[in-house]
Amino acid sequence: MSTLEIKDLHVTVETEDGPKEILKGVNLTIRDGETHAIMGPNGSGKSTLAYSIAGHPKYTVTSGTVTLDGADVLAMTVDERARAGLFLAMQYPVEVPGVSVANFLRTAKTAIDGEAPKLRTWAKDVTAAMEQVKMDPAFAQRNVNEGFSGGEKKRHEIV
Ligand SMILES: Nc1ncnc2c1ncn2[C@@H]1O[C@H](COP(=O)(O)OP(=O)(O)O)[C@@H](O)[C@H]1O
Ligand SMILES: [Mg+2]
Repeated sequence: MSTLEIKDLHVTVETEDGPKEILKGVNLTIRDGETHAIMGPNGSGKSTLAYSIAGHPKYTVTSGTVTLDGADVLAMTVDERARAGLFLAMQYPVEVPGVSVANFLRTAKTAIDGEAPKLRTWAKDVTAAMEQVKMDPAFAQRNVNEGFSGGEKKRHEIV
């Protein structure tokens, strides 16, 4: 179970004319299993909210809190946030010719855990993760995002 809780969040962005307040008291609670779509006019601060949660350096939280299961997200570095599961997904992920999905996933898992996954169980774990999102295990041998459809890129991202 995970809960992301945003309380009375105020954020300013650095502009040429100095800091400008964009978010003026955002409240949002996202519980395990929920999907939230944030909609609003251009320039209303949707991207600013996402950047602020992810830890973009241009955006300064002046007051309010963001917690994940009670832990202070704003006190975490960007990579700590990512490891906790908070990161921005790219609309158009880059293709990486020469890097196989299998290699990419293994490197990512090693970065998260601080040690390489056990070879004995690794292949089985990858296949299981792929089956969960209905991704053909044959993708393990393909290059990251190369020639993937939009949906296949998203499945790979989730894996
Ligand atoms: N780096 C920046 N420099 C100047 N203004 C910015 C910057 N980032 C965001 N803003 C301003 O903050 C407001 C909110 O932008 P944004 O969060 O991108 O809105 P949305 O994603 O809802 O369209 C806009 O007025 C935008 O011009
Ligand atoms: Mg935006």
